[in-house]
Amino acid sequence: MKRIIAIVLAIVFVLGLTSLTFASALEKCNKCHKDAKSLDKVVAAKKIETADAFIKAVKASPKAELHKKFTDDDYKAVAKELKLK
Ligand code: HEC
Repeated sequence: MKRIIAIVLAIVFVLGLTSLTFASALEKCNKCHKDAKSLDKVVAAKKIETADAFIKAVKASPKAELHKKFTDDDYKAVAKELKLK
């Protein structure tokens, strides 16, 4: 019985770890950017077409403070997921 519990725990652990590792860059943003504020809507509304314009939009935002822990690489990864140039 103990063995089964150990195996189940091991599987849960591994699955948890992989889901963390493979969490997309966009998912980090989606904690705050959901529904009307989702980033695909932001990008469409502001007619943002390039990764550079996207990064500028984050930095120009009055809420830039909330984005301090992210790097340009994060934004580039997100821009890619949003299919920006
Ligand atoms: C802690 C919450 C939070 C997280 C996490 C977050 N944002 Fe934001 N972001 C905000 C808030 C709040 C605003 C201001 C929204 C508004 O003005 O309506 C904002 C604004 C923006 C804007 C500008 C929108 C505009 O209308 O000018 C962009 C672009 C943006 N965020 C991108 C990102 C990206 C990319 C990530 C992930 C790497 C991210 N954000 C993660 C809270 C967050």
